[in-house]
Amino acid sequence: MTPQDRHARAEELLGTVGVAHRPVGGREATAANLAWWDADADDYQAAHGDFLGDADFVWCPEGLREADAALLGDVAGLRVAEIGCGQAACSRWLEGQGASPFALDLSGGMLRHAAQANARTGAAIPLIQASAEELPLADASMDAACSAFGAIPFVASVSAVFAELRRVLRPDAPWVFAVTHPMRWIFPDDPGPNGLTATQPYFDRTPYAEVDAEGRATYVEYHRTLGDYVRALSGTGFRLENLVEPEWPAGHTRTWGQWSPLRGKLFPGTAIFVTRREP
Ligand SMILES: C[S@@+](CC[C@H](N)C(=O)[O-])C[C@H]1O[C@@H](n2cnc3c(N)ncnc32)[C@H](O)[C@@H]1O
Repeated sequence: MTPQDRHARAEELLGTVGVAHRPVGGREATAANLAWWDADADDYQAAHGDFLGDADFVWCPEGLREADAALLGDVAGLRVAEIGCGQAACSRWLEGQGASPFALDLSGGMLRHAAQANARTGAAIPLIQASAEELPLADASMDAACSAFGAIPFVASVSAVFAELRRVLRPDAPWVFAVTHPMRWIFPDDPGPNGLTATQPYFDRTPYAEVDAEGRATYVEYHRTLGDYVRALSGTGFRLENLVEPEWPAGHTRTWGQWSPLRGKLFPGTAIFVTRREP
């Protein structure tokens, strides 16, 4: 399967016929993304499962591992919420470090893979189906939270998600999340030479939506500038401590969607925000 036709099954199941740049509200986006991640879950796991591992914490297509980066600090004994966990490999790695992870995802299809991996590895990570916009977790019940490309790009209001995380985290708890680097927005999602020419404005926040024949969204992704993230974090009570832009490692040849060695050697593909809940 090539990167170009990797989503063909999900697109066929959902009746995707094209792309629209138009405003999309939270309810439409969440419904579309729930259906899309359910439809794409098997293909996502088939394409990336070996790279992500069963119990490994890989932050991004550049291959940065929490074992090396330690962005969450020492997690032993901590209750950690993984937001948009997918197959929950990060949570299983966290459990191996002595943490008590809680793995949350919108998609039952993705959580089915997480349950299968739990069974394969003997892990007993709690798997919780929920949107990041409404976490079924008690106030101040978590000591840390993390997300590797889960949820944040797919929600209409990132401030609403940050506010929810502020509610469930105890004071001073780390909240670390990886997203597509905002500068990638200006380029086509193409790992090859076509992905090197800027075609759309960085400052245009109109979301990317795929649509069916009736114009209903079947997949939605939101763009925020770096400044938007900084303002949303400070506006919801998080202190930004570091912004990690992983470099493409020498000898790393694996292409993941639009992430490729060609583009990786020229500009960043991932931004990892290392933040802490203000007391
Ligand atoms: C790119 S995958 C990342 C999965 C996993 N973290 C990984 O590194 O492979 C994005 C995940 O975010 C989940 N997701 C999308 N919107 C969400 C939302 N509003 N709340 C929670 N999870 C969401 C999807 O179901 C999917 O599992």
